[in-house]
Amino acid sequence: MIVTVSRKAHFNAAHRLYRKDWTDTKNKSVFGKCSNPNYHGHNYELIVSVTGEIDPQTGFVMDIKELKKIIKIYIENDFDHKNLNKDVKEFKELIPTSENIVVVIYNRIKNHLKKNLELEVILFETPRNFVKYSG
Ligand code: NI
Repeated sequence: MIVTVSRKAHFNAAHRLYRKDWTDTKNKSVFGKCSNPNYHGHNYELIVSVTGEIDPQTGFVMDIKELKKIIKIYIENDFDHKNLNKDVKEFKELIPTSENIVVVIYNRIKNHLKKNLELEVILFETPRNFVKYSG
């Protein structure tokens, strides 16, 4: 039987959406308030879902304590109370939009899961705006 196991997580982080090769006016017209030069924060919410066969020995798809630990070490510790543009290496050259953030989170978690497990990540930037990536 194939079952999906999910865990919610949370981090607060600052970001700025802009391109160095664009003028301030162009940045403002494309990215709006999210291009504010002094950065601004969001309360990001995550739903991380892992899908796979139930292991007949344990009754688990994966040990959710292990999933909790992966999210804590590779996402929360690096992203929470950070400036995504300045503190997270993937965003040195990549604009930290929700779309790019969800892909970075997916790749970081996927690297630490068993190969036979499927992953889906949903990232809420606000209670009403969210993105989803599953590879
Ligand atoms: Ni923003």
